[in-house]
Amino acid sequence: MSTPMKIALIIGSLRKASINRKFAAYIASQMPKNVMVEEVHIADLPLYNQDYDDTTIDSYEHVRQQLKAADAVLIVTPEHNRTMPAALKNVIDIASRPYKDSVWRDKKVAVMTASPSNYGGINSGLDVHKSMQMLSAKMMIHPEVYLSRATESLNDDGSVTERTQQYLQKFVNDLVAFVGSNDA
Ligand SMILES: Cc1cc2nc3c(=O)[nH]c(=O)nc-3n(C[C@H](O)[C@H](O)[C@H](O)COP(=O)(O)O)c2cc1C
Repeated sequence: MSTPMKIALIIGSLRKASINRKFAAYIASQMPKNVMVEEVHIADLPLYNQDYDDTTIDSYEHVRQQLKAADAVLIVTPEHNRTMPAALKNVIDIASRPYKDSVWRDKKVAVMTASPSNYGGINSGLDVHKSMQMLSAKMMIHPEVYLSRATESLNDDGSVTERTQQYLQKFVNDLVAFVGSNDA
């Protein structure tokens, strides 16, 4: 039997009807049986403040442990005002501290973005790469998925269209290989 693997999933949108959540759910549904996907909930995390580094905040500890325990982190996110949403940046900051105990160092991280716009939220995705580079994470570089006109990739019932399922297949395949690789 193949080794069980765990992916921590961060969805950058807090919106109930989030299109990014729908794409994330589809990707999670395509994972092989040995890959478990667990969401890291970010909506209720207090805004990061460096003063908190000297105290214990239960919600901070919980997400840090969840991320630490994962073999990889998948971030699926919209773009807000040409960068990543504040809630996503907040969890990245929380998990980067205390300074010598960042969860991001050598962590495998993959990101995809989706937006109804023509640009697909690319700036948000590239800004995640920028932060992760600084934090010494191991980023999945290919394929880059910044899904433009993403509302057209959803059927009326919220399911992912067949065309986009085919498009996302390489991302799913490469993500599974990336999570299982020893040299990423
Ligand atoms: C505050 C705010 C800023 C936004 N800025 C951008 C943007 O810079 N680029 C973009 O493509 N879409 C932008 N949008 C539109 C989002 O892409 C759109 O609302 C999308 O559906 C959000 O993803 P979600 O459905 O997963 O929440 C913005 C939306 C909000 C609420």
